[in-house]
Amino acid sequence: MTAINTGLEGIVAAETRLSMVDGTAGELVIGGFPLAELAMNATFEESAWLLLTGELPDAAQLARFREELGTRRTLAPETLELLARIAESGAPAMDALRAAAGTLGIGVRHGSTPPDGIAGADWDDALSLLGAMPAIVAAYARLRDGLPPVTPDPSLGTAAGFLQMLAGELPPPARVRGLETYLNTVIDHGLNASTFTARVIVSTGSDLVSAVTGAIGALKGPLHGGAPGPALDMVFAIGSAANAEPYIRAELAAGRRLMGFGHRVYKVRDPRADVLAVAAETMFRDGGDMALYELARAVEETALRILAEHKPERRLQTNVEFYTALLLHGLGLSTDLFTPLFAVSRTAGWLAHSFEQRRANKLIRPQSVYTGPRDRKWIGAEERGHVEV
Ligand SMILES: CC(C)(COP(=O)(O)OP(=O)(O)OC[C@H]1O[C@@H](n2cnc3c(N)ncnc32)[C@H](O)[C@@H]1OP(=O)(O)O)[C@@H](O)C(=O)NCCC(=O)NCCS
Repeated sequence: MTAINTGLEGIVAAETRLSMVDGTAGELVIGGFPLAELAMNATFEESAWLLLTGELPDAAQLARFREELGTRRTLAPETLELLARIAESGAPAMDALRAAAGTLGIGVRHGSTPPDGIAGADWDDALSLLGAMPAIVAAYARLRDGLPPVTPDPSLGTAAGFLQMLAGELPPPARVRGLETYLNTVIDHGLNASTFTARVIVSTGSDLVSAVTGAIGALKGPLHGGAPGPALDMVFAIGSAANAEPYIRAELAAGRRLMGFGHRVYKVRDPRADVLAVAAETMFRDGGDMALYELARAVEETALRILAEHKPERRLQTNVEFYTALLLHGLGLSTDLFTPLFAVSRTAGWLAHSFEQRRANKLIRPQSVYTGPRDRKWIGAEERGHVEV
C-alpha cells in the first residue's frame, strides 16, 4: 500500500537560503537576519534585493534598483484600461490584481542589466512585477471608488510610492516606516502554498509573470492569505475593553474561533506578531488612533488569558493576522486591500524562490494513486441512461 501525504504535510521538497521558519522556537530568519533585525531597519527595496541576490545592496545598487522599480510603477495604458473595466464590476481587489499582473511583461523589454546568475528576461520580469504590483493595487482601489488613478512619483520608494498612489499625497514618515516594516515582515515564509505554486510553475521552464500570477491565485484563498479582515472586525465588534471578556467567552461558548489567534506551524507566539505590534504602536503613537490601538491590546490580553483556560493543551497565541489588521487599518487601507498588499510584498519572496528553482531545477511532479474504476466499456450517448450528477 503506497503511503499518501495529504497536503504534502511533513514533506521536504526544496532547499532554500531565503527563510527559515521554526514553529517550536517561534523563530523566523529571513536572508540570514532574525526577523526583527531586518524588518525594523530595512526598506522594502533592501529586503527584496537581499532575497533576490543573497546580499544587501551597496548604495549604488540600491539607488539603481529603487529607480528601476519607480519607473515601472507607471502602468501601461492597456493595464489601466483593464483595471477600469474590472472596477465597473466591483470585483474583489485580489481578482483585479491577478488579472492585471498577467498583463505585465507582455511585449515590453526594458533591457536592464541583471545581477550575476540571473537571466535578462527573468530580471526584466522581476522588476516589472515588483514595480507595477503596488501601482495596480492602488489604481484599482481608486478606480473602484470612482476616483482617477494617481500619477506615480518614480523618485519614491515602494512603501511611500504605494501610499502616495493610494491617497494622492505624500504620506508622513511614520506611516512609510510602518508600511516598510509590514512589507519586510511578510516578504517570505518558507515553502508556503503560494511560494510552492510559483516554484511548480517555474519548474516547468515557464516564465516569472506566469509564476507570480499563479501564486496570487494561491494566496487569494482564505486558508492562506485571506484572513486579516475578520481579526479587525472582531476588535470593532468588541468596541470597549470592558466588553472584551464577555464577548470572547460568548464566542468560544458558541464554538466559534477567535480570529488572529492560533497557527498551524507556530506553537508559540508568531514572531511576526511581535514585530508588527511594535510597528503598529510606533505608528499609532505618531498621530494615529491610540484608542483603537489600546483597545486591540486589551482584546489581545483578554483573548490570550481566556484561550489558555479554554484550550490549555494547544498553547494558542496571537498570529500575524491580528497586528497586520491593526497596522494596515492605521495606514488607511480598507480590509479588502490587506491581502493584495500582502501579495505586493510576497512577490519578492516568490521571485527569489523562482530564481532558486531555476538554478537547481528539477520538474516538480508528484504522483497520485488511482482509485477509480477500470475496464469500463464505451456506450454511445443515445444508449446512456440518465445519471444524476
Ligand atoms: C490558524 C488555525 C487554522 C490553525 O489551526 P490548527 O493549529 O491546525 O489547529 P486546529 O484547527 O486543529 O484546532 C485545534 C483546537 O484548537 C482550537 N482553536 C484553534 N484556533 C483557535 C482560535 N483561534 N480560537 C479558538 N479556538 C481555537 C480549535 O477549535 C481546536 O479545538 P478542538 O480540538 O476542540 O476541535 C486556527 O488556529 C484558526 O482557525 N485560527 C483562527 C483564524 C486565523 O486567525 N487565521 C489566520 C492564521 S495566520
